[in-house]
Amino acid sequence: MTTRLTVLATGGTIAGIAGSAIAHDYRAGEIGIEEYLEKVGGLGLEAELSGRQIANIDSADIGPGVWNDLHPAIEEALADEACNGIIVTHGTDTLEETAFLLDLTLPADKPVVVVGAMRPADAVGYDGLRNFANAVRVASDPDAAGRGVLVVMGDRVFAARDVRKVRTRGTEAFRGFPRESIGLVTPASLEWFGAPWRQGGTATFEWSDKLPEVVIVYAYAGFDAAGVERQVGENTRGIVVAGVGEGNMPESARQALVAMAKRGLPVVRASRADEGLVDREPEDTENGFVASRALNPQKARILLQLLLARGITDPAAIQSAFDGR
Ligand code: SIN
Repeated sequence: MTTRLTVLATGGTIAGIAGSAIAHDYRAGEIGIEEYLEKVGGLGLEAELSGRQIANIDSADIGPGVWNDLHPAIEEALADEACNGIIVTHGTDTLEETAFLLDLTLPADKPVVVVGAMRPADAVGYDGLRNFANAVRVASDPDAAGRGVLVVMGDRVFAARDVRKVRTRGTEAFRGFPRESIGLVTPASLEWFGAPWRQGGTATFEWSDKLPEVVIVYAYAGFDAAGVERQVGENTRGIVVAGVGEGNMPESARQALVAMAKRGLPVVRASRADEGLVDREPEDTENGFVASRALNPQKARILLQLLLARGITDPAAIQSAFDGR
């Protein structure tokens, strides 16, 4: 039976052009989906691909505007009996945020794979073809569906909730935490580590096309209450602190955040460190704070936005959603 995959393109370096094979600067989001499918047509991939352009931009500019087009397009593909799996091409800079948002808001009945590249399409050593061929292999495997939204970079498969971009350059720019990769892939083979953990039909969160404003405040030596207050506006509905170490912050900033939490603005403590858990501390209950556990600040922000969109503002209820990730 032929495997049919829907490719939804959003731009990024995977569709980028430098104008010269050795140039450093390039423009992300230059190649359209039709041209891209022609380009991969010669790879002998064992799947029938159809494509749709959702956007063609640098992923620094991806946010609710694109998500509000991408999400219904994926839902449409999920509902299409002729479609076996979905691939989203995406810039790598904000890929983890889109992948995590989709992971939380899509059912797990077909594979959904997000893929990017670190080098533009006309560069020496373009990694986009290999990554795309690997993504086709993963999206063609029905067993991929029960693992939530997946990210393929290099020869590794990551779960959306674990994956993070950790390097600005080079093809090994992604890592997973707390789980490293959950599978190894080549265009010809796929090896999963462990069994699927999700089943079918329902998403964790209903889709919301109006995500409340949540700011990330970044802690540093000398960070203080004024630094917090400058970043929190009248439309802010929640705060994630990219804290030092295990979600810590200077006393002056802490006091300002406690006052905000007491006024009903949820405050989540995450860490600016690359990896590691942020666990609850005894004072969190009194302060009204939430600990982000394994989620980095940008993913903690997405989860908090979805909780707030559902009307959940109680710190204990927010904490249990973070504990469940
Ligand atoms: C982008 O995120 O759109 C540019 C960088 C990349 O895709 O690697």
